[in-house]
Amino acid sequence: MSRHTASEDSRALTLLALLTGLSFGCNGPAAAAPGAASEPLLAPHAPAEPTEAELVARGEQLVRLGACRDCHTPMKFDKDLGMPVPDYTRHLSGHPAGGPEPTGQPGAGDQAVIGPTFTSFRLPFGVVYSANLTPDVETGLGTWKVGDFIATMRTGHKKGSGRTLLPPMPWENLQPAPEADLVAMFAYLQSLPPVSNKVPAPQVPAEVVAKIDETNRRALETRTGAHASIKPAHTTTPSL
Ligand code: HEC
Repeated sequence: MSRHTASEDSRALTLLALLTGLSFGCNGPAAAAPGAASEPLLAPHAPAEPTEAELVARGEQLVRLGACRDCHTPMKFDKDLGMPVPDYTRHLSGHPAGGPEPTGQPGAGDQAVIGPTFTSFRLPFGVVYSANLTPDVETGLGTWKVGDFIATMRTGHKKGSGRTLLPPMPWENLQPAPEADLVAMFAYLQSLPPVSNKVPAPQVPAEVVAKIDETNRRALETRTGAHASIKPAHTTTPSL
């Protein structure tokens, strides 16, 4: 009696799937992609290029999961609900120019006092305002390329080589993200209606910025190894 190895079994299943038109574990559009027949039968399934609409939809999911809205969309107080809610007329447009600042000072041991729109943060060393992420050319990310966005999240510096990002922007959470996810998030942000809103520059002393810059660089050095191992094999490399 012959014994089948696991790989022979999976090979038989794959051939069966191809012959019967069934698909085991690969239901994506790649299975029916034109030209698939000319590829080797047992080739690993290459991910199909997402359409622009799919990219934007995936980006929206990730931006929601990333809670970007919590700090980048101004909040307003809903009297009926008795709680603050996001003001979607200014979705992801950052701290409103001329908007209210935190009125109090952080108490002993406090990390920050957050302003009424949840877009301004008074830390013990100064005030930081959340950025306009809409594609407005003058005041938002309208002139950014996808590579600028990726470089920002990978390094914690604007566009990779600019000013270091200040707390509470949680860029480190995005630092190890697969490139395809960052590409999708940027595609979604660029699909938003542009909102003209010039966010004020942070009120933070230069020496504090320099210190945070140094901390970010050091954190990056210790994390580069981890990032390399998280990076998945299948990432799309856009033209940056
Ligand atoms: C806890 C609040 C908070 C959250 C959550 C947050 N951000 Fe930010 N973000 C900020 C603040 C504050 C700044 C401004 C930092 C500065 O001035 O250095 C900022 C800056 C940025 C910038 C730099 C833009 C520029 O013009 O320089 C980008 C890009 C960005 N955030 C994207 C995101 C994305 C994408 C998410 C969701 C995954 C997100 N942020 C979640 C607070 C936050």
